[in-house]
Amino acid sequence: GAPVELDIAGMKPGEMKTVEWRGKPVWVIRRDNKMIEDLKSNDTKLADPKSERKPGELTPEYARNEYRSIKPEYLVAVGICSHLGCSPSAKFDAGPQPSLPDDWKGGFLCPCHGSTFDLAGRVFANKPAPDNLEVPPHKYLSDTKILIG
Ligand code: FES
Repeated sequence: GAPVELDIAGMKPGEMKTVEWRGKPVWVIRRDNKMIEDLKSNDTKLADPKSERKPGELTPEYARNEYRSIKPEYLVAVGICSHLGCSPSAKFDAGPQPSLPDDWKGGFLCPCHGSTFDLAGRVFANKPAPDNLEVPPHKYLSDTKILIG
């Protein structure tokens, strides 16, 4: 499949865009400072907090960091659950919500079997999904343009 270009100019903190790449939904989320800061507090609850599994396949080298991204502000991830392939829903609002942990700090909930992912696409342990969401190969063409693929 051909690479896909995405314009992120004007995206507000907390905003999410979806583009299709190779028939898959790819999300770009602009994280605000609190979202970035909160990522650390999830580490002990995650299955693969440092994205060490399937290197190169799930997480490119340049995204194997705390944010799973090139720039802390923007997450680029394939929106397909690593369990059986449903597409998780964005749940950015903090606070108690049905089927989310009480200390939920925002992320994604898979509607099929309840797997949860944080705002770096990292999967919470003890849920059916084994792996983090895939970070697709991507790069910045400029401050406002990302090339996916
Ligand atoms: Fe997502 Fe099963 S497909 S939890």
